[in-house]
Amino acid sequence: MPNPHDRRTFIAAATAAALTGPAIAAAQQPGRERRRAEARRTGAADGPVVIASGNGVAAVGRAHDLLTAGADPLDAIVAGVKIVEDDPEDMTVGLGGLPNEEGVVELDSCVMHGPSARAGAVASLRNIKNPAAVAREVARRTDHVLLVGEGALRFARRLGFKEENLLTDKAREAWLRWRSRLNRDDDWLQEDEFDLPAVGRGAMAPGHGPGPRRHARPLLALRDHLETIDGVPYTTGTIHCSARTAGGDLAGCTTTSGLSWKIPGRVGDSPIIGAGNFTDNAVGSAGATGRGEAVIQVCGAHTIVMRMDAGDHPTDACLYALKTIADRTKPARLLTDDGRPNFQVVFYAVRKDGAYGSASMWSGRTFAVAGAGSGARHEACAFLYER
Ligand code: GLY
Repeated sequence: MPNPHDRRTFIAAATAAALTGPAIAAAQQPGRERRRAEARRTGAADGPVVIASGNGVAAVGRAHDLLTAGADPLDAIVAGVKIVEDDPEDMTVGLGGLPNEEGVVELDSCVMHGPSARAGAVASLRNIKNPAAVAREVARRTDHVLLVGEGALRFARRLGFKEENLLTDKAREAWLRWRSRLNRDDDWLQEDEFDLPAVGRGAMAPGHGPGPRRHARPLLALRDHLETIDGVPYTTGTIHCSARTAGGDLAGCTTTSGLSWKIPGRVGDSPIIGAGNFTDNAVGSAGATGRGEAVIQVCGAHTIVMRMDAGDHPTDACLYALKTIADRTKPARLLTDDGRPNFQVVFYAVRKDGAYGSASMWSGRTFAVAGAGSGARHEACAFLYER
C-alpha cells in the first residue's frame, strides 16, 4: 500500500496530475524517441514471428505453431531447434555434427529469454545432443550464464539428459578423409603468420596485407552451412532462431557443433551472449551463423540489437554489423584478392514490432521465417558482396 506522504509517491502523483493522456506520451517521447518509434513501425507484423538460419524451416514452423498455442517464446524456439539438433543428416548442429580435430563432437549453445532478461549457455559440451535445452536449464536453474566442457556435461547429467555418441558414421568418415589430407587446411597457422598486426587501425604486419598470399586457402564463402572441397566437408554452420510472440515478447537461441576440425576446446560465437545471440525484450532479438571468430570480435548480435534500438530496420542493422566485420578483417589469409572477407557470416534479426530481416556477407543465402502473413518458408537474405 503506497504511503501518500512518501516523497517518491508524492512526486509521481503530482507528475501524473500535471500530465495526462497524450501529454504524458509526448513528455516521455522527446524527438529522438519519436523518430525511433516511427522507424520501428516500418515492416511491423501482427501475430507471432519466428526467424532462423536457412537450415531452420522445420524449426520456425514448429516454434510458430507453439507460439500460436500460447507457448513461452524460449520454450517454442528450443523445441524448434531440437528438430535440427536431433537430425543426424545435418552435419552442423547436434547429433551428426562435424567433430573437432581429434574426432570428438563438441557442441555450443546459448539462449536468451526476453521477458525475464535471463541468459544461459554451454560450450564444448560432449555427448549431449541438445545443448540448447541444457543452456535453457543453465538460465532457469543457476545463477551462472555459461558452463563449459566437463562442468557442462556433469550439469546436464545431473538433470537427466541422455548421454550418447554424437559422431555418426557419416561424420566419422568425413573426419578420416580430413585427417588423410591433414596440414593443408587446418587451423594451426604457419610460422610466418604468427605476427599480430602492427599497432593502428588499418596497419598490417608484413605478409598480412593484400597481395600474393603465401598460404593460399580456398574461398570459404560457402562454409556458413557446409562446403565440400576434395571430398572433405567444412562448416561453420549453425542454427540461430529468434521469436517474437503476438504480445511482443522475445527470445533467441543459437546452437551448433561449431567449426569443423577445430582445435579441441575452441569456442565460437554461438554460446557467447552478445555475439551469436542477443535479445532485449524492449527492442528485438538477433543472432548469427558463419565464421564465429569474426562475429565475436564485433559483438555481432548485440551490435544489431543496439542498431535496431537506434531506429535501424532489422535488415539494415544486419548489414551494418557485416560492414563492421569487413572493415576489421585484416589478415591476408582471410581476404580475397580484392581485399574482401573470404568467409561467410549471416545475421538474423526480429524487432519487437514483428519486423524482421537477414543479411549475409556473400550473396546467395536464404533464411527461414514463419509468421507475418504466411507459414514456414525461405526468403532471400540481403547481402554485402555479390559472388
Ligand atoms: N558460428 C559457429 C561457429 O563459428 O562456431
